[in-house]
Amino acid sequence: MIYRLKLGNPIETEAVVNLSEVADRNTVEFTELLGTVGIELSTSSRNPESDEPSVELVCKLSESTSIFGLGETARGINKRGFVYVSDNTDETCHTETTSSLYGSHNFLVFKGAEEDFGLFFDTPSKITFDLGFTVSDLARITSCFGDMYIYYITGADLNSIVRQFRVCIGKSYIAPSWAFGFQQSRFGYMNEDDIREVVNRYRSLGIPLDAVYMDIDYMQDYKIFTTNRERFPKFGSFVREMEDQGIHLVPIVDAGIKVEKDYDIYEEGKANGYFCTREDSSLFTMGVWPGWCHLTDFFKPEASEWFGNLYERFTCCGIDGFWNDMNEPAMFYTEESVAESQDLFDRLKTSEGKLSTDDFFRLKSSIDNWRSHEYYKDIYHLYGGKKISHDKVHNLYGYQMTKAAALGLERCMPEKRALLFSRSSYIGMHRYAGIWTGDNRSWWSHLLMNIRQLPSLSMCGFLYSGADIGGFGSDTSEDLMLRWTALGIFTPLFRNHSTCDVRFQECYRFNNIDAFREIISLRYRLIPYLYSEYLKAVHNDEMLFKPLCFEYEDDVRTFDVEDQLLLGESIMIAPVYEQNAKGRYVYLPEDMLFVKFTSASDYTAVPMTKGYHHIDVSLSEIPMFIRKGHILPLGVAEVCTADMRRYYDAGSRGDLSRSDFEIIASEEDMRVNYEMYTDSDKTLYISTI
Ligand code: GLC
Repeated sequence: MIYRLKLGNPIETEAVVNLSEVADRNTVEFTELLGTVGIELSTSSRNPESDEPSVELVCKLSESTSIFGLGETARGINKRGFVYVSDNTDETCHTETTSSLYGSHNFLVFKGAEEDFGLFFDTPSKITFDLGFTVSDLARITSCFGDMYIYYITGADLNSIVRQFRVCIGKSYIAPSWAFGFQQSRFGYMNEDDIREVVNRYRSLGIPLDAVYMDIDYMQDYKIFTTNRERFPKFGSFVREMEDQGIHLVPIVDAGIKVEKDYDIYEEGKANGYFCTREDSSLFTMGVWPGWCHLTDFFKPEASEWFGNLYERFTCCGIDGFWNDMNEPAMFYTEESVAESQDLFDRLKTSEGKLSTDDFFRLKSSIDNWRSHEYYKDIYHLYGGKKISHDKVHNLYGYQMTKAAALGLERCMPEKRALLFSRSSYIGMHRYAGIWTGDNRSWWSHLLMNIRQLPSLSMCGFLYSGADIGGFGSDTSEDLMLRWTALGIFTPLFRNHSTCDVRFQECYRFNNIDAFREIISLRYRLIPYLYSEYLKAVHNDEMLFKPLCFEYEDDVRTFDVEDQLLLGESIMIAPVYEQNAKGRYVYLPEDMLFVKFTSASDYTAVPMTKGYHHIDVSLSEIPMFIRKGHILPLGVAEVCTADMRRYYDAGSRGDLSRSDFEIIASEEDMRVNYEMYTDSDKTLYISTI
């Protein structure tokens, strides 16, 4: 059952689109309901930060209470013991003490000693989840502003709570099947030849590849929807040349629009009043990659439609995939912040223009403050005809940019699924696009973080997601790259991406190229299973990745497992994520078949009993476990998904059969019945029955 409380005049985020199972309650009734699970709700306290009435929920935690959810956050699958703040942030160097990342996903599930329940806070402004951090047995949730919807969800078990929530928020975005191929990216591919080289190297080594990314360097002076004519002289024919080799080019689209006379997008936006303003209606100006920029005010429907239509400038050349970036929105500086530091400098400097050491540090800290969120308060939007401060809607910005893009893409290529994902997000955006988890580092801890984020993202509907494989910042190492690629073969978005000043990390830069080829080829063999499980998760409002305790709730040991995940209905994954480890310990919640791939085509399969085991896994091997009563169908490895159409377009040539796959299962499960069918979207489904 789902109960909803409306407080004040909430911003309509469109996170929830299906209210058929939602019962509205007034404050007294809702407070009583929460009281039954030990939550105290107060709606009158003043938030010191906003100086406005806010909402506070306090919940006593028993020793055994676990808390799940919150989508993209640092730390564990069980969120207990830390403080998370929904406040979308361009977080270039996150660690385990980072409270805010790029997205805000305010959905949590509590597994208490007695009752399980879910909570969703539908508010696009800042909200803090102190989950037993300040006081170890208290969860305290405090909002900055008081206007919001709160949803309280009860259910028989954890899965049913998540499923009900997912039904409310609507079906997740469906990526095209080619987006399950391997993708190569780097900040710093400067021209056509750089990209050609990447493709040639992958193709000549027989390492599968489906897409190459175009980071900001393809643009003319970082102006969105332009291409640099010298470096990409014949963009349309270059796109076709890549297409002929089975490669999709995926350009980046940033949120900031460069302020430059005669740049048509800037001129159009300005002339039509599409940009965000300050309170006094002058245009708000901030700095990102292109220098001074304006931001589109996506709350104005006409501005949003205009922005969405801009994607046609690339789709008309054959582009069918995009990544939206810098849309928290990221701001390196604003006119206000620069003026403050300038003013400080003028006041501090001596008549000879020198600074004392103390004053140098004062100036430095003023410049370090340029990225502070306090400058968001200078941005204004027009919401429902009224000026509204950005503070109140901050967490919606990336969502709105991406929704505008998705609707624009639907208009300009209605017959095709587009690949679209974004850095910043809010629940609701999952219906329009996927996400990638931003600027991680080549750290082993970030490989583990990648594993742990996957189920939380699944809970919130972000099924098409993934991290920068190998790490975006810092120099990677071959062993980290291999282990991370071995995890990446299971994630829908499977993209190797790095920044411009770190070691090159395309697979061919390393020693053991054979190992990379085999691991990535295995990914292609898994695509029929992965794409089928992904679509089932979309259509059945299921999680694609689940923590073990979601399926084996009665087994208390599963609650401690934070480094193994169930993926779809058949398999459990247990990646190795520590340097120099020759293997790892695993916990099996039931008897399973341990399958270890030594290459894309060779594997060993050993039945294992419920309990703890140690498994040996060398750098080039991939471990996985097949659940009892299930099978794993493997397709044929190809160098790109275009050569695999027979699997996911099976409907066009009649249904596939068992003989189209290599089936892996225990002897007993080889007899398991399963069905394979294609739906109206001509998409393959494989399910055991
Ligand atoms: C941001 C993105 C990163 C991209 C870079 C340059 O840091 O998160 O992926 O490479 O900008 O565009």
